[in-house]
Amino acid sequence: MRGAAFVNGTIGPIETAAIPVLDHGFMYGEGVYEVLRTYNGEPFLYDQHIARLRRSAAAIHLDLPFDNAMLRSWVDRTSAAAGLEGDTYIRILTTRGIGDLTYDVRATPAPSIVIVVKGQAAPDPRLRNDGIAIALVPILRNHPGSVNPIIKSNNLLNNALAMQEANRRGADEGLMCNYRGELSECSQSNFFIVSKGAALTPKNESGLLEGLTRNFLFEVGHEAGIDVRYETLYPADLLSADEAFITSTTREISPVTSIDGRAVGNGKPGAVTKALLDAYRRSAHALTHASVERRW
Ligand code: PDD
Repeated sequence: MRGAAFVNGTIGPIETAAIPVLDHGFMYGEGVYEVLRTYNGEPFLYDQHIARLRRSAAAIHLDLPFDNAMLRSWVDRTSAAAGLEGDTYIRILTTRGIGDLTYDVRATPAPSIVIVVKGQAAPDPRLRNDGIAIALVPILRNHPGSVNPIIKSNNLLNNALAMQEANRRGADEGLMCNYRGELSECSQSNFFIVSKGAALTPKNESGLLEGLTRNFLFEVGHEAGIDVRYETLYPADLLSADEAFITSTTREISPVTSIDGRAVGNGKPGAVTKALLDAYRRSAHALTHASVERRW
């Protein structure tokens, strides 16, 4: 795999980048992260991602001893070292840091910071025509009183188990309910259904990561004249959905054409989903062009 990684101030090839075993991110899964991607070589929604990283860190009482300008210079240096043509995937992680094996935060005076930059594959054109299959898995999204899903936590065991269960069922993503039986989100993405022309996504109170792609879709929908709304959704709503799709930084807006082996609508990506995807890409390209031009 080509790319570069920044680990506590040192930048090197991605394959050999390493973190000490005493890092509490490794030992205890204590840390938070962000995943960004570039369009036109420019990180998309950068400020929003950094703001969410800071909110996640604050939620686990992790003080980040760097300002936004310093972090941006590390991201830019790591991207330059990766030297990749085309768009990139950027993962920023920060952990409790390195120290003795105790939960006592005094053991870890300095957080670790890791930045991984690798290629972002161009979207598979088949996706727009065929969509993906998802499965409603029995694993529940974390209770907000446990590790709150609003925190973009490095501790992804629950998410990995949900995705792996979906994969065993022949699906590309696992949709989860919350402890009340409401739909919440998928293992690595937010979820929408389209009903009577409106795109509906579970409310924040259903316990989920407030995805930046999902947030951005409210703006895109407004511009495209498509109603985008929060709604409490249940598994039964899947049966009557006209269309469905997932959203995430890396998967953009991906049409869902089958859920648990049953076709959604006519089994093809729907018109509303495609219109939102096209409008989303247009906006992402326009915004990144604009910020590249501002920098020059
Ligand atoms: N995943 N929900 C979960 C649980 C996620 O992990 C993600 C993102 C999202 C979508 O958030 P956003 O639109 O801000 O990317 C929702 C990233 C891409 C990942 O873990 O790779």
